[in-house]
Formats: sequence, structure tokens, C-alpha cells
Amino acid sequence: MKKIKIETELEVFESVSNLPDSIQELMNKAHEARNNAYAPYSHFKVGAAIALENGEIVTGNNQENAAFPSGLCAERVAAFNAGANNPNVKMLAMALTAGSVQHKTKVPIPPCGACRQSLAEYEVNQEQPIALYFMGATGKVVKSKSVQDLLPLIFDNTYL
Ligand code: THU
Repeated sequence: MKKIKIETELEVFESVSNLPDSIQELMNKAHEARNNAYAPYSHFKVGAAIALENGEIVTGNNQENAAFPSGLCAERVAAFNAGANNPNVKMLAMALTAGSVQHKTKVPIPPCGACRQSLAEYEVNQEQPIALYFMGATGKVVKSKSVQDLLPLIFDNTYL
């Protein structure tokens, strides 16, 4: 028997102002997107902004539905938007901000498991990591240098 140890290293920034300028701009776009989220059921709004290799920024936010499972998370709205309109253009980084409408969320909110799986597909295909920066509505920002750092042992299309 052999043991495998999996370690993840994350970087924590005290606030948005400590991020590189280009990532601050990306996070600003994510905040704008969060304001436009459609979240009448959870009252929890999420915004995502993706920096593409061609310089474009593609955004998304959570879109809920009265038939609950029919809604979609912000990360996948943004990633599918990029995949649909900019196929084969690499995603360099994604900024995420999430928070309750009822109070100011201060803890960094990471993407859910299903979004990590969806994002990993793009990362595997483009053979280049997508850096993730996530935060609440305010406060610290956490950076993961790749999607796979947040989802070790992914199931990917090389297995099929
Ligand atoms: N949500 C996201 O947009 N991204 C996540 O990674 C987790 C959750 C949304 C889905 C739902 O509209 C609301 O947040 C509460 O779960």
C-alpha cells in the first residue's frame, strides 16, 4: 500500500486593492454582474467575469427559476457564454464575487462542485490553467492558480 497526499496552495489577498490592476478590473466586472443576478428565491447573488486570451471579458451571474433545478450558477453562465461566443479562445482567469442580498457577505465564497467540474473541462481542453479569484461581497480575495487545484482527481474527457 502506498499513500498519496494531495496538497493545495491558495493565496489570500487582504482586499481587492492588493490584487494586480488587471484582476481588480476583472473583479469590478464580476461585481457589476453580481448586481444583475436574478436570485429571487435564494436572495444570494453571484457574479463571474472571465478574462479571455484575446483581451475580452465575458461575464455571467446566477439565473434562478421557479422550477428550482432549472436555474444555473454564475460561473457556468459565464463559462458557457465564453464557450458559446468565443470557442477556442483560452480563459486566463475568472473573478467571482458572491453574497447574500440580506447582509454583506465578508467571507470568500468558492465555486460549487458542479461549477468546478464544468470549468475543469475548459481547463483540460485548453491545456493551460484558469486562475480563480473568489471573494464575498467585500473583504479578502482568495486565489487558486488553477481549477484543478480546487478539484483534485477530476473526471475528464481523457477517460472516455
Ligand atoms: N450559486 C452560484 O451562482 N455559484 C456557486 O458556485 C454556488 C451557488 C448560486 C446558485 C443559486 O442561484 C444561489 O447561488 C444559491 O445557491
